Amino acid sequence: MVDSSGAAELLVAAAEPVAEGVLLLTLADPEERPLAPWTPGAHVDLLLDNGLVRSYSLCGDPADPYRYQVAVLLDPQSRGGSAFVHRELATPGTRVRVGLPRNHFALAPAERYLFVAGGIGITPLLPMIRAAEATRADWRLVYAGRSLAAMAFRDELARSYGEGRVTLAPKLETGRRPDLAALLAEAAAEGRTVYCCGPERMVDAVAAACAGWPEGRLRTERFRAEVSADGSEFEVELARSGLSAKVPDGLSILDALEDAGFAEAAFSCREGTCGSCETRVLAGEPDHRDAVLSEAERETAETMMICVSRARTPHLVLDL
Ligand code: FES
Repeated sequence: MVDSSGAAELLVAAAEPVAEGVLLLTLADPEERPLAPWTPGAHVDLLLDNGLVRSYSLCGDPADPYRYQVAVLLDPQSRGGSAFVHRELATPGTRVRVGLPRNHFALAPAERYLFVAGGIGITPLLPMIRAAEATRADWRLVYAGRSLAAMAFRDELARSYGEGRVTLAPKLETGRRPDLAALLAEAAAEGRTVYCCGPERMVDAVAAACAGWPEGRLRTERFRAEVSADGSEFEVELARSGLSAKVPDGLSILDALEDAGFAEAAFSCREGTCGSCETRVLAGEPDHRDAVLSEAERETAETMMICVSRARTPHLVLDL
């Protein structure tokens, strides 16, 4: 059944471990009806029965209209998202509500790509690689992980594409992380467009190595962002509703607004990954901490994700 937001109740058709702590879910309509279409880089929200919403990249085949696949890493710090998925959705036949696919990380046409994955960040890159292969683009993948056993889909990648295109960089086995600066210098010389998905630290390193590259040559997607305490406090003003609120250290704008009695802001994941809370900025400078906006979008400072991002200025005015 599809609700007014487009979310549908799907069935877990299969659930299989594909690496240490990684569960691959195959989701289908209970009546075998086709699912909403998607493109490489898209994600869906799982609307979990415990009230949490978690976004996962679609890693299956967009040409299969009857199946979605998501790979979920069990986060030892899980606040009830991935732990719930591993515990409650690991049995085929279980039902789960799934939002419509959205894509903030779409693959643009290019002749040469470098894909850089860190850990479970491989998931959005899998359909991108298939698409790049289908257009006969010249692509390379550098896939870094904690250990070979923890790197999902590594065998499939090596089997399908061979070692010439796929470089696996398991830290446990190699004793080091890949030299991203050298890889990106080479990619720049070869005119490659870079798609990178992984943990915050890796994406930051890639973004730093690509500083000054032409617009659109680097696209990134980060894992979950969090509101970390940094000693700052600022005031947020809502232009349309006339409300103002202090946002103390370690609290999100969304939380501060809710505490002040404002309940109109849209949200879903509350961790900077889904884009539902995107809000126009009318004055002040945001401190972006989400995983949704591109570097170029961050620079224009036109919008921000109020569930995780904060302010660099003492005063921020939002279109709410
Ligand atoms: S609620 Fe998902 S990005 Fe803010």
